[in-house]
Parts: sequence; C-alpha cells; structure tokens
Amino acid sequence: MTPAELDQWSNHWLVVVEDALSRWVSPQAPAGLGDAMRYAVLDGGKRLRPLLVLAAREAVAHGTKDAALDEAALRAACAVELIHAYSLVHDDMPCMDNDVLRRGKPTVHVQFGEAQALLAGDALQALAFEFLTPEPSAIPDNVQARLCRLLATSAGHAGMAGGQAIDLASVGVALTEDQLRQMHRLKTGALLEGSVMMGAACGETTLQALNGLKRYGQALGLAFQVVDDILDVIADSATLGKTAGKDAANDKPTYVSLLGLEEAKSYAQSLLREALDALHSTGLTHTHTLVALAERVVNRNT
Ligand code: IPE
Ligand code: IPE
Ligand code: MG
Ligand code: MG
Ligand code: MG
Repeated sequence: MTPAELDQWSNHWLVVVEDALSRWVSPQAPAGLGDAMRYAVLDGGKRLRPLLVLAAREAVAHGTKDAALDEAALRAACAVELIHAYSLVHDDMPCMDNDVLRRGKPTVHVQFGEAQALLAGDALQALAFEFLTPEPSAIPDNVQARLCRLLATSAGHAGMAGGQAIDLASVGVALTEDQLRQMHRLKTGALLEGSVMMGAACGETTLQALNGLKRYGQALGLAFQVVDDILDVIADSATLGKTAGKDAANDKPTYVSLLGLEEAKSYAQSLLREALDALHSTGLTHTHTLVALAERVVNRNT
C-alpha cells in the first residue's frame, strides 16, 4: 500500500469515525458535562487507535462483508478513542502532567475547570462500554463480551491506568531499560495492542494469526511511545498541538533520556521490523493496511 493509498483509506474511515462519535457522544449530559465530553473527543487527534481497530478487522474479514461484525468494529473503534480521550484529559490535569495545550486547544480542565474535566473523563470511560453493548443489537453476545473484556484490560490496572501510576511514581527516578519498557508497554502500548485485538475479535482467526497480531500490537504500541518521547524533544508545540519539551521539564524518564536521541530512533526502527515480522507470521493475506499504519506510526512527525 502506497502512502497515498493509506491516506485514501484513512480519510474514508476518519470521516466515518468522526460522524459516529459526533452522533453517539451526546451534548445532552447535565450541567455542561456533555459539552466537556464533546470538546475532549471531537475534532482532533490522529485517531490512530480507531484506525488500528478497523485495519485489524479488515485483516480478519478476508475480503468478506458482515454487517453485524462491521458495526462491532466501528463501535470498538469509537470506544477505544473514548478511553484514549479520557486518558488524555486526566493525563493533562495539574495532578498529573499539568499541561495547558492538547490537540491544538486549551486542555479540558483549562477550558471547563478541574472537577468537570475529572467527570468528563469518568463519563467518557463509561460511555465506551455502552458503545460496545448496544440494545437491541445484531452483534453476537460473545463478540460484545470479548470486546468489553479486551478494552477493560487494556485500560485498567494491568494496562493504561497501571502504566500511568508507574509514570507518576517515576518522576526524577532513573529507570532501567526493563522498567522503562514495562512502563511504556502499559501506559500506551496496552491500548494500541487492545485496539488490534479488538479488531481481530470482529472476525474469524486462527490461534497463530491471533498470536501474530498480538505481537504486532505489542511492538507497535511500544514503538508509538518511543516516538512520542522523541517528538517531545525534537518537534515544536505548534506541530504537536501539545507543549513540547514537557518530559524533560517534568523530569520524566523517557527513551531519549535513557538511550539518547539517535539510539532511541534506531530502537523505534527495530520495533517496526519486529511488528512487521509478527504480522508476516500471522499467515493472513489482508494485512497491507496494518503494514502501512505501522510504517506511518514510526516515521511520523506529529
Ligand atoms: C498521545 O497519544 C498520548 C500518548 C499515549 C503518547 P496520540 O499521539 O495518539 O494523541 P492524539 O490522539 O493524536 O491526540
Ligand atoms: C501519556 O503519555 C499516556 C497516556 C496514557 C495518556 P504522555 O504523558 O507522554 O502523553 P502526552 O505526551 O502528554 O501526549
Ligand atoms: Mg503523562
Ligand atoms: Mg502527558
Ligand atoms: Mg509524551
């Protein structure tokens, strides 16, 4: 798949995802909560996690159509973006990274106050699981249950929230490479791996394919945070839509602080090769979008 073909593919799905999010995240929540929720989710972000869900669904659909499983994948794509958006709202709060800029706009707590930001995050998290369990629905119950489990484990203590706890406990601490890898795998990798596995849950696969997809998601998830650490050092705030240089300012251990810039860059490239090897081992034939997304993640500049 060429970069232009990936653009075409993602432009199509970005519109579909944005439209679904806009319809499903209601402004009706009481006392301005709906406005804060929509501000946090709509109109911003690369939407990488939804795109991974949809590309993994494509890989396990084997070129066939199934309306219920296609709907499950779209719901999963939107649900994982809600969890991600909630994690960003909380990550930016003064008690965590204390950031004022996100996705090119003032952060949610700056715009709406800290209590509303906390609640918007809470409500987005709950809404993610509502998305996965519509009623009535043609999506098989076992698929709904599996999607809920994958999302819950990726987001919770053994995933994103656990990784964020390690991150906060590591301010000013010199972590070993193993410890840093574990922190990044949890705080960021888990949700990316979960995105791939949610897409894979929306189709029939062999155990071999599932294992390969899981290893692809793990390598890509770690690579994503390594690149995030690099961009924090080399990119500017206008390009990133968030304040650059925050990791050093907050005394956070990162791949750049541990390995230096050049070694961190080559580590990201080696994780890309690992992700592509894992994909190859699946034996699946419709993986060209997953390949192109991995290349884009590692070679991105925002
Ligand atoms: C930022 O994620 C937070 C991390 C987990 C590194 P993204 O870089 O995917 O943020 P958006 O969604 O594009 O804003
Ligand atoms: C965030 O990591 C991981 C999350 C779970 C949100 P960072 O703190 O590095 O993310 P940015 O750089 O603020 O987007
Ligand atoms: Mg953080
Ligand atoms: Mg942060
Ligand atoms: Mg960062």
